[in-house]
Amino acid sequence: MANNTLLIKHTGTGKQVEYPLLKSTLGAETVEIRNLYKDLGCFTHDPGFVATASCTSKITYIDGDNGILLYRGYPIEQLAEHCEFTEVAYLLMHGELPNERELQDFNLEISDRAIIHESLRKFFDGFHYDAHPMAMLVGVVGSLSAFYHSEMNIKDPAQRLRAATRMIGKMPTIAAASYRHSVGRPFVYPRMDLSYCENFLNMMFSRSSQNYIDQDHYIDQDFVKALNLLFILHADHEQNASTSTVRLAASTGANPYACVAAGIAALWGPAHGGANEAVLNMLAEIGSVENVPKYIAKAKDHEDPFRLMGFGHRVYKNFDPRATIIRKTCHEVLSKTQTNDPLFELALAVEEHALKDEYFIEKKLYPNVDFYSGIIYKALGIPVDMFTVMFAIARTSGWVSHWLEMMDEPTTPISRPRQLYVGPTQRDLAIIKNL
Ligand code: CMC
Repeated sequence: MANNTLLIKHTGTGKQVEYPLLKSTLGAETVEIRNLYKDLGCFTHDPGFVATASCTSKITYIDGDNGILLYRGYPIEQLAEHCEFTEVAYLLMHGELPNERELQDFNLEISDRAIIHESLRKFFDGFHYDAHPMAMLVGVVGSLSAFYHSEMNIKDPAQRLRAATRMIGKMPTIAAASYRHSVGRPFVYPRMDLSYCENFLNMMFSRSSQNYIDQDHYIDQDFVKALNLLFILHADHEQNASTSTVRLAASTGANPYACVAAGIAALWGPAHGGANEAVLNMLAEIGSVENVPKYIAKAKDHEDPFRLMGFGHRVYKNFDPRATIIRKTCHEVLSKTQTNDPLFELALAVEEHALKDEYFIEKKLYPNVDFYSGIIYKALGIPVDMFTVMFAIARTSGWVSHWLEMMDEPTTPISRPRQLYVGPTQRDLAIIKNL
């Protein structure tokens, strides 16, 4: 028997079939079982897709046991230290890092696309002042589909690339507008002369009387550096829930702006991108270091719905390499801003307690990227309800890269899982029985 197959035997019928094992360049082999139903008459049951590869991809690789994350083969640590976020976005989209000229053109195109249509800007007026910024983001990004629908032929690679770059360009503008609306401040237009991160900070924090970037073009470059780093760390993470949502929606041939809006909706949940906001809310609830043991005990109690937010990951079972990088930056940003944030001290205490606790050790639960990202965002002056929006700005580069990859495939089957039906068997309405 060939050793590159997996033998599946139906013990009821005695029938057995060999399925090919597909080779990956890195990571586990994957069994190709699309003919399982045809061959053996059964489906696979894998809620949460714990052992299911939903697609093939060349973009991002994660080795969860060894805490390795690669974008297009490059380790996250190297990219985080040496690259600009837009360089990384280009890498994710195109497969290679840009040369100087390509990066210049890409940055120019992104800045050029940062402006939003005045009618789209007016959408914000329809939201109540206390709408969550993620609610506005989902709605407004989805609405882009109404603005660019006529020039969106998903069979045309040039139009696809334009749509992808447009989303990366507009996301900070829409994100900042959602914040400005929630605090009742006027919209700030994007500026072509600023970098991606500078531009975002300016659109967030400029006041009419005082430009965030003042006349000498001053901006705290340490803040820009921290933001750039956070955006790189959040740019992609292979087939996570929001990216899989984008892919699932896109498999129907849906409009890409609508697909990304679906991804934003999936990101919002506290088990995914909403965790950074949930971490800060949790730390506020814990309140002080003396309460940490009580909350650790709550997190371990299966009868109690409380979970330690920012801990655990579906794939990382050793450590999250992004968390290691971010923890260091957290120290740097807080000492730079001279923020003696008690929440940071509290976060360190929670981490220390959890890492020594048998429950967390045994289940391999470590701090993930979002355990510390919120503390940095807070030090940069970003309000808590904007944290997941920040994640969405960065992840847009990943979403559109996966969308481009999938659209490039000659045939993309519609994503249509099957189910294990456990409802009632066929029965008749009482009225029919009584006939
Ligand atoms: N606190 C307490 N117990 C936990 C936690 C936690 N944060 N995470 C997992 N567990 C326990 C869980 O109760 C389960 O115990 P048992 O085996 O006894 O039933 C075991 O660990 C395995 O957990 P799971 O929920 O089956 O694992 P999963 O892979 O389905 O979930 C997770 C991964 C990230 C959703 C989960 O760890 C979690 O809810 N963490 C908190 C939310 C969070 O920080 N999310 C951000 C993830 S990183 C950002 C991103 O990429 O989205």
